[in-house]
Amino acid sequence: MNETENDYHGYTPMDYDEDSAADEAYQTCVSYIVEHAPIERDDTVVDVGTGTGIVALELASKCDRVLGRDIDDEWLRYAREKAAERGVENVSFDHGSFREPNVEEAVDVVVASYALYMAYDEGGEGTLRAAIEGISSLNPRHLVVADKMFFGPPEPRGGYETLPRMGTVANLLADTGFTLTDVEIVSGSAGVLVASRTSG
Ligand SMILES: C[S@@+](CC[C@H](N)C(=O)[O-])C[C@H]1O[C@@H](n2cnc3c(N)ncnc32)[C@H](O)[C@@H]1O
Repeated sequence: MNETENDYHGYTPMDYDEDSAADEAYQTCVSYIVEHAPIERDDTVVDVGTGTGIVALELASKCDRVLGRDIDDEWLRYAREKAAERGVENVSFDHGSFREPNVEEAVDVVVASYALYMAYDEGGEGTLRAAIEGISSLNPRHLVVADKMFFGPPEPRGGYETLPRMGTVANLLADTGFTLTDVEIVSGSAGVLVASRTSG
C-alpha cells in the first residue's frame, strides 16, 4: 500500500474499515443514517468525505445514485474496489472536497459521516463554516451530518482531535439556510443531525 494523505504511519483504508466495524458509536450513527435519513428512492445522494465508502455503499440500495467524494485518492481507489467486488453499480467515487465537492448534477441529499469534524479540528469554527458552506452550495433538500461533536459539556480528550459543540454545528447549518429537523444523540461526543433546506 502506498503512503496516502490518510495513511498516518501505515494506517491503511483496511485498518480504518476494521476499526470502524469495532466502533459502536460509529456503527450506531451509520445504522441511524441508513434507517432514518430522509432519502427517497429516486434521489441522488452525495457522501462527502466518503473515505472507504462505508456509508455510500450502505446507501446505494436506498436511492438512485450515490456520489462519493473525498480528497484522498488512495482511499477513493479502495472504495471503488469495494464497490466493484460487491457489484454495486450506482455508486461512483471521485475527488472532491468540502469546499469544492466537484458535483455538477442536481443533488437531493448530502451526507457527511465522521468527516466534518476534521475541518473543525484543522481550523476551528471558520474552517468548519467554509466546509458547511461548500456542501450547502450543492443546494440539497437535506444535509445529514453524522459526526463526532459534543452534545454536552466538552470533555477533555487527551491527544485526540478538537471537536465542535453540537450547537456550533447547528448554528452553522442554520447560517447556510438549513433548519435542524432531527437530532440523534448516540453518546456525549457522537450523533447525527438532519437539517432541511429552509427555503427555495
Ligand atoms: C474519518 S474518515 C470518514 C470516512 C467516511 N465518511 C466514513 O463514514 O467512514 C474522514 C474522511 O474525510 C476526508 N476529508 C478530510 N478533509 C476533507 C475535505 N476537506 N474534503 C473532503 N474530504 C475530506 C478524509 O480524507 C477521510 O477520508
